[in-house]
Amino acid sequence: MTKTLAYLKPYRGAVAWGLILKFLGSVAELFLPLLLEYIINEAVPAADMNRVLICGGIMLVFAFIALFGNIFANRLSVTSSGGMTHDLRYDLFSKTCYLSSSQVDRLGVPSLISRLTSDSYYVNQMVARTLRLGVRAPILILGGIILAFTRDWALALVLLACVPLVGIIIFIITKKSVPLYFGVQKKQDDMVRDMQENVTGVRVVKALTKEEYESEKFDGLVKELAAREFKANKIMSLSNPLATLVLNLGLVAVIVTGALRGNLPGTVLAFLQYFVIILNAMIALTKIFVVISRGSASAGRIESVLREDTSEKILDISDEKNGYKIEFSNVSFSYNGVGDNLKDIDFALKEGETLGIIGATGSGKSTLVNLLMRFYDAGGGNIRIDGRDVRAYKNDELRKKFGVAFQNDFLMASTVRENVDYGRGLSDEEIEKALKAAQAEEFVQTLEGGVDYNLAQKANNLSGGQKQRLLIARALAASPEILILDDSSSALDYATDAAFRKALAKDYPDCTKIIVAQRISSIKNADLILVLDDGRVIGKGRHEELMRDCDEYKLIYAAQMGGEKDARAQD
Ligand SMILES: Nc1ncnc2c1ncn2[C@@H]1O[C@H](COP(=O)(O)OP(=O)(O)OP(=O)(O)O)[C@@H](O)[C@H]1O
Ligand SMILES: [Mg+2]
Repeated sequence: MTKTLAYLKPYRGAVAWGLILKFLGSVAELFLPLLLEYIINEAVPAADMNRVLICGGIMLVFAFIALFGNIFANRLSVTSSGGMTHDLRYDLFSKTCYLSSSQVDRLGVPSLISRLTSDSYYVNQMVARTLRLGVRAPILILGGIILAFTRDWALALVLLACVPLVGIIIFIITKKSVPLYFGVQKKQDDMVRDMQENVTGVRVVKALTKEEYESEKFDGLVKELAAREFKANKIMSLSNPLATLVLNLGLVAVIVTGALRGNLPGTVLAFLQYFVIILNAMIALTKIFVVISRGSASAGRIESVLREDTSEKILDISDEKNGYKIEFSNVSFSYNGVGDNLKDIDFALKEGETLGIIGATGSGKSTLVNLLMRFYDAGGGNIRIDGRDVRAYKNDELRKKFGVAFQNDFLMASTVRENVDYGRGLSDEEIEKALKAAQAEEFVQTLEGGVDYNLAQKANNLSGGQKQRLLIARALAASPEILILDDSSSALDYATDAAFRKALAKDYPDCTKIIVAQRISSIKNADLILVLDDGRVIGKGRHEELMRDCDEYKLIYAAQMGGEKDARAQD
């Protein structure tokens, strides 16, 4: 929590002024019953119109001080809580961007999203409410009791007897309801996650005609959420009536005691007002308590992300210049420490060469790419680029070498140009060259506005193949030293795929290419092909060599023969 509260530091001026104004406003409010008492007990019986008017005027001034003190203090609380939430969200988002892949795996994407959205909102509510009521309520309660004692100790004792009673009621109710509210919050997270999945996967839901199934599942979640809310609110809703009952009993006791002791009506009236002020302040304190419990849990969740170590771990490993652009020697890796996802991977690639990777689903193709880009560190062996271990590079320096189109990569809801450029300030020529090589130029020209055509969210207004072409263009646009295409041409027809490979060889001859593919035709001309199976290399060589030596490769080839014939016909 301290780390979160430290975000208020830049706003300490606004916080301090807010608290001073709150203090003044609350004190002014406390003096109103005293003035009323004086008017009723002293000025009215003496029929002294002047005193009534002066006191009335002072009451008006105090009421305005209370009003404006509160208004300005509330504004300052919004400024400081809003500002600190902005800073906190900014840092949390930046931190999230720098998290390593294994950290993201561990924390989970939905959980990171809810920390950025609902958790930061709860922290905002906690700070805003505490600044608004955290000072006001205790001042009103304490000040009310002290002033009451200065008026009449016997009546003040009646009031003092009621306060702990109300306190106990509120304490018991809050203690019961806070855990229930946490339950509500957790269910809310589940509901948001379910909603996100459904909205994102709306086409799958439709395609499998699972609308009713999904609706029923969602309905179940909503009903459970409603039930939990009902339970929490049912208990919480007892606090006001019970506190009011105690208040009313207290008021009767004050009136009776006042009558017995012969107190003046003004004094009794002042006491009644203090009763109301104190009770409201106590109810406000309960609400703050709930908001603080929820907010501090959220602050903890946010801080645990902020505390993640995202510093770059650059190792001091000496270079081994041997003329290779990319070199894997005896590389092994496991995501979770149980069983190897990659084992004994060994290969080397010269500048400008092409590596093709093929293998069954889950055989480790994407994992190999993840290791090369150092999204994860290899468990054993070395991965070198230009003779230097990838762990000896700064992240920036390493990643700048790559142009990548990942499997299931995303496009933003902006123009074609912005998607290809991706904030790198590329020239029109570079973008055009990349679109041309990726075989995207032709279809982009048919779009309204060409490269200025606006893509819908997730580029839903493009076909699968068109999306892939733009992703390839994005990977190529900055003329990377190493191009990685992870299953990025699967949606291209054979003719387009062939034209793309030709353009790639002609326009980007120095670029070293890694092409992960399901189709042999996409990698047939590669300088080196790896056949992966269950994290191991079971075939390594050129197409002809593999056709001779690797049974698995031959099997894949045989299975794809039909497609191959088509490809040859179109090449
Ligand atoms: N983030 C991860 N955490 C844990 N295990 C993972 C993770 N990513 C992949 N794996 C596991 O590692 C293995 C290799 O996965 P990988 O994604 O490299 O396969 P792939 O060859 O690219 O498959 P595909 O052709 O389906 O893309 C699989 O068994 C997969 O379940
Ligand atoms: Mg993959």
